[in-house]
Amino acid sequence: MAQSDERNQEYTGLTRVEPTLPTRFYLDPDHHALELQRIWYRNWIYVCRASDLDGPRAFRVFDLGSQQILLLRDEGGELQAFHNTCRHRGSTLIQKAEGCLRNARITCPYHSWTYDLQGRLQRRPTRGEQADFDKADYSLYDVAVADWNGFIFIHLEPENAAPLETAFDASHLLDNWHLAELQVGHTHTRTLACNWKIFWENFNECLHCPNLHPSLSRIVPLYKQYFMEVHDDPEWQAHQREGDPLYKAGLAEGKETWSADGLPCAEYFPDLSPEEIERGHTYCENTPSMFVVGHVDYARSVQILPLGPEQTLIQAQWLFRPEVLQNPDFDAAEVAAFATQVIEEDGAAAELNQKGLHSIRHERGALMPEEYAVHSFQRWVKDQLD
Ligand code: FES
Ligand SMILES: [Fe+2]
Repeated sequence: MAQSDERNQEYTGLTRVEPTLPTRFYLDPDHHALELQRIWYRNWIYVCRASDLDGPRAFRVFDLGSQQILLLRDEGGELQAFHNTCRHRGSTLIQKAEGCLRNARITCPYHSWTYDLQGRLQRRPTRGEQADFDKADYSLYDVAVADWNGFIFIHLEPENAAPLETAFDASHLLDNWHLAELQVGHTHTRTLACNWKIFWENFNECLHCPNLHPSLSRIVPLYKQYFMEVHDDPEWQAHQREGDPLYKAGLAEGKETWSADGLPCAEYFPDLSPEEIERGHTYCENTPSMFVVGHVDYARSVQILPLGPEQTLIQAQWLFRPEVLQNPDFDAAEVAAFATQVIEEDGAAAELNQKGLHSIRHERGALMPEEYAVHSFQRWVKDQLD
């Protein structure tokens, strides 16, 4: 449900039939392995919030496809990331998913090669001498790590990583939310039986909205019209001239945020512009691994991770100002219930979509005019694979 570029004042719909991606892109394990290599190991990938590693020596271990990555804070509090693999004979280093290291050392459980928290080899227990061995040649395999507003991303090809900001559709869109200062009040995690691209394709169109999201379509008039944006409507000029409330941009009259009654759960973020308040939801995406939505009273991030060709992990988090969460009467889970239902509705559709793709007759489908953003996403996937 991306917002189109405000400068694009033209009709956004596809005027020619565009084929979808081939079905095997969603089912074939060999194709999935190629996507891991070309997409997931070559882009910035969101892993967790900065606050999830809350002090020196805190660590987390993440699986990304077949790769296992160790993220930690060194003694100075700086984030460091490495492949969780020893430089001796390649053993796994850290076996726990998260925790706090006992000292400022990473020691391999196999033959005790020991590294400091910058990944430099410090010690290898042996009684012999090898004149040509240089510890400096055996640092841990480094992974790039960067922080965007408290969201931590990793990149498996540090030498080829462009600045993280360039990986967003527009990284400044949520500046007025001061996301780094927000705290997670609620988390919803779900494993979906679908390919990761199915989830993004669903995100990138609203043809399904009136049918699947009746509550949300009452809050967002355009969603009820099968549109994401004003310019998705071939008659947009006439509808906007007439000020038709059915085609109003942003939220419906009297609705202020995404909630059951359209009313906010807390005071507005203080620095929002009148346009940001009027719009009611502002999206910022970092394909392939996450997007964030800012509402007037809370923000929501959604993380997407492939677990296999037909399995995807989705983790949604609701972010609030610390003072909102400090109020003992505040119930973040209650606030989260509305969008959780939307995520569940989308998840069910994504799983149905995946299941249907198994037909031996279905080699590919065809996009409708309103699916211009699905088309852009699919083109992005193909560009990455080429
Ligand atoms: S594999 Fe790590 S010390 Fe031998
Ligand atoms: Fe949806």
